[in-house]
Amino acid sequence: MRNYKNSRDYGCWLNYDLLPPAFLAKYEQQFPTMAVPRGMALTQSITAELRRGLGGLVGQVPNLVEREDEAAVALRLEDAAGSPEGFKLTVRAGEGLLKVLISSPGEQGLLYGTFAFLRALQLGEVEPGWELQESPRSPLRLINHWDNLDGSIERGYAGQSIFFKDNHLVEDLDRVRDYARLMASIGINGIAINNVNVHREETHLIAAKAEMSRTISCIFQDYGIRLFLSVNFASPLEFGLDSADPLDPQVQSWWKERTRQLYAEVPNLGGFLVKADSENRPGPFTYGRTQAQGANMLAEALEPFGGVLIWRCFVYNCQQDWRDTTTDRARAAYDHFKPLDGQFRDNVVLQIKNGPMDFQVREPVSPLFGGLERTNHLLELQITQEYTGQQRHLCYLVPQWKEILEFDTYARGPGSTVARIVTGSVFPLRWTGLAAVTNVGSDPNWTGHTLAQANLYGYGRLAWNPELSAEDITREWATLTLGHDGDVVDTVSQMLLGSWETYENYTVPLGIGWMCNPGHHYGPNPEGYEYSKWGTYHKADHLAIGVDRSVQGGTGFAGQYHLENAQMYETVETCPEELLLFFHRIPYTHVLKSGKTLIQHIYDTHFLGVEQVEEMLAKWQGLADKVDPETFAHVLERLQGQLVDAKEWRDVINTFFYRLSHIPDAHNRKIYP
Ligand code: GCU
Repeated sequence: MRNYKNSRDYGCWLNYDLLPPAFLAKYEQQFPTMAVPRGMALTQSITAELRRGLGGLVGQVPNLVEREDEAAVALRLEDAAGSPEGFKLTVRAGEGLLKVLISSPGEQGLLYGTFAFLRALQLGEVEPGWELQESPRSPLRLINHWDNLDGSIERGYAGQSIFFKDNHLVEDLDRVRDYARLMASIGINGIAINNVNVHREETHLIAAKAEMSRTISCIFQDYGIRLFLSVNFASPLEFGLDSADPLDPQVQSWWKERTRQLYAEVPNLGGFLVKADSENRPGPFTYGRTQAQGANMLAEALEPFGGVLIWRCFVYNCQQDWRDTTTDRARAAYDHFKPLDGQFRDNVVLQIKNGPMDFQVREPVSPLFGGLERTNHLLELQITQEYTGQQRHLCYLVPQWKEILEFDTYARGPGSTVARIVTGSVFPLRWTGLAAVTNVGSDPNWTGHTLAQANLYGYGRLAWNPELSAEDITREWATLTLGHDGDVVDTVSQMLLGSWETYENYTVPLGIGWMCNPGHHYGPNPEGYEYSKWGTYHKADHLAIGVDRSVQGGTGFAGQYHLENAQMYETVETCPEELLLFFHRIPYTHVLKSGKTLIQHIYDTHFLGVEQVEEMLAKWQGLADKVDPETFAHVLERLQGQLVDAKEWRDVINTFFYRLSHIPDAHNRKIYP
């Protein structure tokens, strides 16, 4: 069998194929030499990347020379102000050759500049007079793995863990290196390697199994990535203490000592990530303490080492009784954390899921964005497609993430967007940024569906700069990954950019959420979560569907937003229709802005969604001889499966609503009575 590591799909966006003739005419033999400062921790990675990149793209591996003025590509560590992660790239015409200079006050900036140069070369941007000056918009650009030490991955759809197997490290650490390189190429600077649900075995990553963390962290270090560990808040109990109370001095000193020893073993540790008092994980509530008291105790232990404590806000009652109409899960994060704003230590960073519920195909933005003013925080996204097709369906999430980032919270007047908040320009916060649950596993193509690589890439690019447009990121990814054929780039970009809306069309309408099978969350089941304890109810009956979350007469969730948004969500007339069923209870006969009734809208979007999958499939088929045969066959198979499953969604959802409402489709299409 051919080694899958040589396959295109394994290389992702770093395949560095020989450039097409028009580009080669500009760049061939232009880069015979390079100068890289010696003695940096990243010298080796940068040098290797330039060799590999230029060797592949222009067919000439550059020689290392000592002097910067003799090099076609020169890297310079500059003693200048500015972010050590930022870089400046300039290109001028030398004697017959181009002269490229990549400079930065920090070696990490040189690494990012190197990747940016190689990317620009593939996009044909490198020419005399061209300049690029960039620095990441926020200090934390994180990836969360939900990997367990036994090798399984919670919500993983691309094989097993690339780090762990049978409670040990995997043998293939080269793959971990390839991964670190991929992540650095998009600007990721921190990776949490284990599941936020820290089971018994994983608790030992901070003690007896610290050696595993150390090994991975040494690889990460070569790419400027810090390692984060998810920790169990109740760890002291595992190690013989009889309490994990954050105000107990014994508990405090236990954490301080453990953290000190851990840093001695794993100096490249960025800090801890904690899921506490959430979905049955232990936390400070057990001891009658607040989330701030819990977080601060751990943050204090990390403080001497410059570590940060990332504390998730996914705190809600997961033992709800569906008969209870006074509890609204959507309110929970804000209700728990808003009153604590300002009570967290400087090195605590709250990690907030994008929406108030849980990574549904459509949700409003969490009101904690704009609500928190004096507490460091991160936006948490989900790259792994738990509720969005599990990497069997094409569902490209960059357009969704852009909508979230562009949402105006009005926290400091108009223009207080989530993007500006998480880049620290609305409130002066020390630590801001993005985190996302990754979609990576041991499958040869890393992400199960090869086109799901675009979600991973897009996340990194947005974490670097949330202002990049979805279109630019998409075309860039398609070019780097699939090559320069204009038809391929156009077609794949169109497929990607429309796929989230398509997925929404054939699945769950107007922000209602869930309607999927319980547990694994794949496929339709309209009442799958209706009588459960998870607080995820739509309450459809024969007349209407939805939960009233207005202040006047509802759960009051809409009132958690700043006035402009609170007013907008409050009434049916002003609520954006794509979120109508999230905020209001609506009769099937209600007429939408389109002039259609709600029920007709549901039928129409579900028929449309399936047609759109058919179109995607046809578009892909049209690329048969233009993309790598293996990639082509694999994506084709996924799209064919998507079509089958989209039909299932369509028919189950339409039938469910027809059976409840008895209102026929105006166009008499097939619905199963
Ligand atoms: C979702 C997901 C869980 C996960 C949780 C979390 O509920 O289904 O598997 O543990 O989110 O974000 O912690």
